[in-house]
Formats: sequence, structure tokens, C-alpha cells
Amino acid sequence: MLKRTDYLTKNYGKPDGWRLTAYERIGGYLAARKALDMQPEAVVEEIKKAHIRGRGGAGFDCGVKMSFMPKVSDKPHYLVVNADEGEPGTFKDRTLMEQNPHGLLEGCLVAAYAIRAHCVYIYVRDELHLAKARLSQAIEEATAAGYLGTRPYGRPWRVEVFVHSGAGAYICGEETALLNSLEGRRGQPRIKPPFPAQVGAFGCPTTVNNVETITAVGIALGMGGDAFSQLSALHHFNDGGMRLFGVSGHVKNPGIFECAVGLTLRELIYDLGGGTLGDRPLLGVIPGGSSCPVHRPDEIVNVVGDDRFAPYNGQSILDLPLGVDTIRAVGGMFGTGCAMVLSDAADPVLALHNLMRFYAHESCGQCTPCREGCAWIARILDKIVGGKGSMAELNLIHEIASNITGNTICAFGDGAAMPALSFVSKYREYFEDYVLGRTAPHPRGLHA
Ligand SMILES: Cc1cc2nc3c(=O)[nH]c(=O)nc-3n(C[C@H](O)[C@H](O)[C@H](O)COP(=O)(O)O)c2cc1C
Repeated sequence: MLKRTDYLTKNYGKPDGWRLTAYERIGGYLAARKALDMQPEAVVEEIKKAHIRGRGGAGFDCGVKMSFMPKVSDKPHYLVVNADEGEPGTFKDRTLMEQNPHGLLEGCLVAAYAIRAHCVYIYVRDELHLAKARLSQAIEEATAAGYLGTRPYGRPWRVEVFVHSGAGAYICGEETALLNSLEGRRGQPRIKPPFPAQVGAFGCPTTVNNVETITAVGIALGMGGDAFSQLSALHHFNDGGMRLFGVSGHVKNPGIFECAVGLTLRELIYDLGGGTLGDRPLLGVIPGGSSCPVHRPDEIVNVVGDDRFAPYNGQSILDLPLGVDTIRAVGGMFGTGCAMVLSDAADPVLALHNLMRFYAHESCGQCTPCREGCAWIARILDKIVGGKGSMAELNLIHEIASNITGNTICAFGDGAAMPALSFVSKYREYFEDYVLGRTAPHPRGLHA
């Protein structure tokens, strides 16, 4: 159900909309004041009611994650905001940092208070220069106004926020690789357990959340957890609130749109995205960043054993409300909520080739299945695209990708395997056309 909202984006595009005065004009920094009048546990309970599913890709419940932090500890606690945003097709967090930095800072205040952290790191992808500049300016403004620092709102509680520059490796968006990078180590994922809530930044209890998740925390606390949750058409799936939906690729009107959770792919592509370029038939859509399975428009929803799916069974996947659990139930992944659209002008073989070259390049190399598997699939696709691949090699892609899944320290491997498996099985005939010489070799095949 298409319901546009503007809780995150009210000041987007306004002159000086990112400045403190503009944020205060729309009621900014009142939610943090409300939080400081509560006990930290009560803030966590309120956030649990909001059912904010992590906006960074995995969709874990934010309030539940907060509750994993120790209640008593002799170590400092940290809040780390994941602003690495390296997922291909995803460009929503950048807009928040550039156009609503105080919204993020207020969320940081509320979340830090809830988990008893005095120090917040916002780990920003290095290339996002404007985002870093606006965040730094917002920190200065909020500190000068007494919202941040040694006595925020005059309370005997201190909180500091630091902007930390990443160095542009996709893997540093994985939360434990990010923590290593933050500590000055090589950005490689850590084995879990222990989870960051036990052993995170500098060996201390840490919560890592996405930029949008944390911004939503401030909004949810301000309006109340239940009210926030009810905004969503999928609150009965414990998937609350609103979120930033992105659409890119072969659409007339690519961009970021704030809507209540429960929007459908059809609404995102046709109502918000303006439809496919040249009104060509839709070939496929990856719902949330490249690390998700691709869907064909002729896929039909058929989820048995769960009454909540009764209204959608028998319908096109394009009409299934987009949520963490709804898309998971049909074998997909909602990811970051930024959809990539392919019209029939796209060649799915070249699309996968492009993606696998990215994953082969970005694998940190720590786990053999991922390091060797991604590069192997990329090499096979080099050959297929160049007209030199065989059927046996085409079949091997499935086998290699299946052996990456679940066999790595972090979810990078799964994220690389999912597009590989889904493209090869859902667009098999396009791959066979290359192998059987029905499609001319493409110059992008490195062996061509
Ligand atoms: C390879 C890889 C890259 C990731 N990149 C990001 C990222 O850029 N931003 C992000 O918020 N989460 C990213 N994640 C997910 C994080 O590991 C983590 O789940 C997230 O920051 C938790 O925040 P959330 O619960 O608010 O979504 C990535 C995960 C993987 C495996």
C-alpha cells in the first residue's frame, strides 16, 4: 500500500534544511529530551514496541538488539553507526546524512542513552565528503546548543559523537569488519560469537546500527513505539514504521522515496519510479541492493501455513508488500530497500557478470569458499560472456555458489551467492544462448 510520509525527509531539498534552526523548527531534539526523562530500560522497551527492522540489510529488530547490551558492565559502551553504504544500488543513507544530519544525531542521542553509551562513532564511507562535512557541522551546532557534549540538556550525562572516515572497502560495511577498521586494524570480519554486544569496539559492549535505523529510533521515541509501528501496513509482521525506499536502473524517475513500510514493488517501480524506461517490459528486479536474489515479474506468491499471506497468495510478487519477512517468505531478501530494476533492454548475463566481478574484487579473502568461489564464478562468466563457456561450466556456477552459502565467517559470501544462484536459475535460457552461440560474444568477456 503506497503511503508517502515525511518523518525522515521533511527538510530534504529546503534551503539550509540540514541546519539546526531548520531541524528545531520541525520539532527537532524534543525526542531526545523525552528520552532523558526516562530510564534507559524504558527507552529500550519503547523502541522494541516500534519494531524497527534494521535498515542496513539484515532486518534484525533494533530494540531487541539494544536489549542484548549488558545492563551492568565495568567497561565503556559504544554506539557505532554504520554509514559505509557500499551496497550496489543503495544510496539512501547518504541522503539522510546530507539532508537530515540532525535527525541522525538525535537518534544517536536516544540510542546512546538507551544502551548507556557515552561515545558514538559514525563510520562514514570516505567518498561521502558532503555527508561528512554536514555531519561535522551538525555536531558542532548541536554541541554549541547544548544537545551534545558534557551536559546535554543540562543533565548529568555526557555523550560525544565522532565522525570516522572509512577507506572505501565494501567489506567494511559488515559490522565486525567495520569495528576492526575503526580500531585501525585490517577490515576483515570477526568470527561470531562473541557478538558486538559482548565484545565490540575496543573489546567493549557495542551496538552497531545503520544510519536510517538510528534516525528512526529518534522518531519512534518521539511519537511512541506503538504509533510508530502502526504506520506500517506490515505491523502484524512486526515490521514497523516508515523507511526510505530507493529505485534505480531502468526506470524513468530513479530516486529515494519515504513511505510507510508495506509498499509493493509495483508501486515502487511504476508509481514512484515512473515505470520502465521507454515503457519496455520488466525483466526483473532486485529488491534491496545487489546482495539479494533477483525476482522475475511472473513469480507468483504461494506461501503455505501462514494466514497472513492469504491476501497475497496467487498474486504477482510485484503486489506483495515489501517487508523483511514477506520477501523472505518467497525466497528473497528485502535488504536495504533500494530496488534495482532491469527492463528487457538489459542482458541478465551481463548484469550478473558485472556483479560477480564486483564481489570477486571486494571479497576480503579471509574465507576460502568466498575468496576462491567469487573469483571462480567471475572467471566462468568472463568465458560465457566471451562466447567460450561450456554447459558444464554454467552448471558449475550453481555448485560453486551453493558451496559459498553458509560456509563463510560473514554474510558477504551469502550476499554474493544469492544473485549468482537466482540469476542463473531464473534466466537460464539467456546463459544458454551465450554457451550455445545463439547470442554473439560480448566484448566484456575478458577472454573474447
Ligand atoms: C558485506 C557486507 C556489507 C555490509 N554493508 C553495510 C553497510 O554499508 N551499511 C549497513 O548499515 N550495513 C551493512 N551491512 C550489514 C551490517 O553487517 C549490519 O548488519 C548492520 O550495520 C546492522 O545495522 P541494522 O541492524 O540497523 O541494519 C553489511 C553486511 C555485509 C555482510
